[in-house]
Amino acid sequence: MKAFIQSTGYYVPDYIRTNEELSSMVDTNDEWIYSHTGIRERRIAGPDQAASDLAVEASLKAIEKAAISADDIDIIILATSTPDHNSFPSTASLVQDKLGARNAAAMDISAACSGFAYALETGKNFIASGSYKHVLVIGTEVFSRIIDWTDRDTCVLFGDGAGAVVLSQQEKEESYILDSILGSDGSGAPYLIREAGGSRYPKNETDKSPFVTMNGRRVYNFAVKVIGKTILDLLDRNNYTIDDIDYIVPHQANIRIIEACAKRTGIPLEKFFTDMEFYANTSAASIPIALGEMEEKGLLHRGNLIITVGFGAGLTYAGNLLRW
Ligand code: UT7
Repeated sequence: MKAFIQSTGYYVPDYIRTNEELSSMVDTNDEWIYSHTGIRERRIAGPDQAASDLAVEASLKAIEKAAISADDIDIIILATSTPDHNSFPSTASLVQDKLGARNAAAMDISAACSGFAYALETGKNFIASGSYKHVLVIGTEVFSRIIDWTDRDTCVLFGDGAGAVVLSQQEKEESYILDSILGSDGSGAPYLIREAGGSRYPKNETDKSPFVTMNGRRVYNFAVKVIGKTILDLLDRNNYTIDDIDYIVPHQANIRIIEACAKRTGIPLEKFFTDMEFYANTSAASIPIALGEMEEKGLLHRGNLIITVGFGAGLTYAGNLLRW
């Protein structure tokens, strides 16, 4: 049984934190941030909003567009690095309750910014089993809660948001997830990490940070390498060339990473959809937000060939080849 993306939905909080506002918080400025990242602003969740709340907003839109009811969902697969609660319950279970998805199983996936691409492939395989008809796949993040807002190296990069898709059985051949590549290089774990708060360093009384810390250069180099390789491998093993691809939807971390990847691979920059200017890096939510925005703008048409590609903490990487 094949799986296709039946609908998309996304949600970003109302509050816009501009580069100007950040300049009043840390020693930075719009010129540096925009020229080094392509980011102008990001959304920040309200004090009452956690990852599940953003996820519910995005999911309701995707469910409505798919013209199914919450009862029709067989499983919710939710990618996040900022769950409502540490460890458990899963954020997916909270979303399941809030949606009233009474027949749905629920679980979280942790693969950082690659999480949505991992979740999509996982959902595809549930559908391939033949027992699952509708899978709700979500990426949701409230990074503003795990960022040190006094650290200019990281606080300018991230934002909050959520995106969701309804993945459904497809009996026809035209529209489905063709292939995915999922990978990890755990030796790079120290380069992007939230050290304290887990079973290794459970309490904040250690000298380990409870916030995101990052070696930006290392992550940058990893990203440029794996994004290009993932795209070219997906093309190669499915006998397509870049000319066959309508859009590449990359993880929205930094425009310079996309530009460097385009230069390195010879892929025209225009093939890449980007919206980090408005939302910054929303980690696992960035690809489904981009898909939702593209659909809203009328950029996606049935039959289009799309590649999604992500990278992030782990260090992980992942990509999906989709016939829209
Ligand atoms: O989902 C994955 C998440 N992570 C990423 O995608 C990160 C990938 N890495 C990057 O995007 C880039 O490495 C950064 C945007 C993080 C940094 O850009 P860079 O061109 O690698 O800058 P840099 O770290 O080499 O820093 C250059 C200078 C430094 O000053 P000095 O030492 O040359 O005097 C930094 O202190 O820029 C300074 N700097 C800043 N200045 C103003 C670093 N952050 C800022 C800032 N505002 N926010």
